[in-house]
Amino acid sequence: MTGRDARRIAVIPGDGIGPEVIAQSVRVLAEVARRHELALTFEEGLAGGAALDARGHPIPPETLDLCRRSDAILLGACGGPRWERLPVHLRPEQALFTLRRTLELYANLRPAVVSAPLADASPLRREVVEGTDLLIVRELTGGLYFGAQSRTGEGARAVATDTLPYSAAEIRRVVRRACEIARTRPRRKVTSVDKANVLETSRLWREVATEVGREFPDVALEHMLVDNCALQLVRNPRQFDVVVTENTFGDILSDEAAGVMGTLGLMPSASLGDRPPGLFEPVHGTAPDIAGQGIANPLAAILTGALLLRYGLGCEAPAASIETAVWRALADGCRTTEMGGALGTAAMADAVLARLP
Ligand code: IPM
Ligand code: MG
Repeated sequence: MTGRDARRIAVIPGDGIGPEVIAQSVRVLAEVARRHELALTFEEGLAGGAALDARGHPIPPETLDLCRRSDAILLGACGGPRWERLPVHLRPEQALFTLRRTLELYANLRPAVVSAPLADASPLRREVVEGTDLLIVRELTGGLYFGAQSRTGEGARAVATDTLPYSAAEIRRVVRRACEIARTRPRRKVTSVDKANVLETSRLWREVATEVGREFPDVALEHMLVDNCALQLVRNPRQFDVVVTENTFGDILSDEAAGVMGTLGLMPSASLGDRPPGLFEPVHGTAPDIAGQGIANPLAAILTGALLLRYGLGCEAPAASIETAVWRALADGCRTTEMGGALGTAAMADAVLARLP
C-alpha cells in the first residue's frame, strides 16, 4: 500500500493516565497494522488540560483541524483536579463536548464483555455474570448535555434548570444505528431504555423506537424502563445484547455495566456519526491518582484500538486479532495491579503483543 492510501489517525493522549495508555494502544495498533499490511499514520494533537496549559483553550483550532482531516481519532482522556476551578467553557471536558457536537458523533458504543477468565474480577457471582456480552449504544449529542440551562436568584432563592430536548430525527438515527449493529451480532436483540411512564421525551423515544423496530423485522426490539434496566443489569446481565438509550441514562448505565465487569479498565468506546472520523476512547477517564506511575491498565485503550479498526476503518480482521490477544492474555492470568495482579502498563501491553494471532 502506498503512503497516499494510508489511513490517518489523530492521536490525542490528553491528561492523567491518557498518555500512558494511548502510547500502548498505538504500539499494538502499529504492530497489527504491520501484520495485516494496513498503512496507518499517527499524528498527535492537544486537547483537554494539556491544551489549556499549552494553548489556553481546551480544544485549539489546530486540533479540530487535525481531527477533521483524519480518518479516525484515538483519544486518551481529558480533565483533572488542576483545571476543575476554571469557568465551565474552559474546562477540559469541553474538548469532548466540542468533538461530539461538531463532528455529530451521535452514537456512543460501550461494550461490556465478561469472558470466563474475567468472571472472578466481577463483584457478581460467576453463575450470574459469566458469558455477559452486551453493547450499550448511548445517544451522545442531545438531551440534558446540550439542552438549554439557566440559573436565577441567589442563596435560598436560587433556581437552576436543565432541559432535556429530543427530536424524532435524533432518536430515529441512533435507534437505527443500534438495530444495524444488532444485525451483526448473533442474538439480534435490542433493548430500548427510557422513562416513558414519566418523561415526555421518553414517550416520543418509545414511539420512534417502535417505528424503527418495524424496519428491522429480523431484530427483536423490547422496551425497558431505566430503573428496571439498572436492576436487571446486576440481576441478570446476560439477558442483554444491544441496549440503546438517551445521553444521561447511557452515561449512568455504561458505568454500571463496567461495574458488572468489575473494572473500568476494560471498557473501550466508539463514538460514531454518519461519516468519519469517529472518536475512539477508553471509558475510564484520567485517573489522576495513579497517573505517571506506569501502573494504569492499558487494556481499555488497546481494546479501543480494536473498535477504531472495526467501526472507524472497517477493518474487521485486525480488530478481531487485537481482541483475541487481549482475551488470551487474560486467560493466561495476566493482570494489572488494579485487577489484582502485578503487571505494569507496558508489561501488560507486551503480554498482548506476544499473543497476537
Ligand atoms: C463519559 C464521561 C463524560 C460524560 C464526562 C467526562 C463529561 O462521564 O464519557 O461517560 O458524562 O459524557
Ligand atoms: Mg460517564
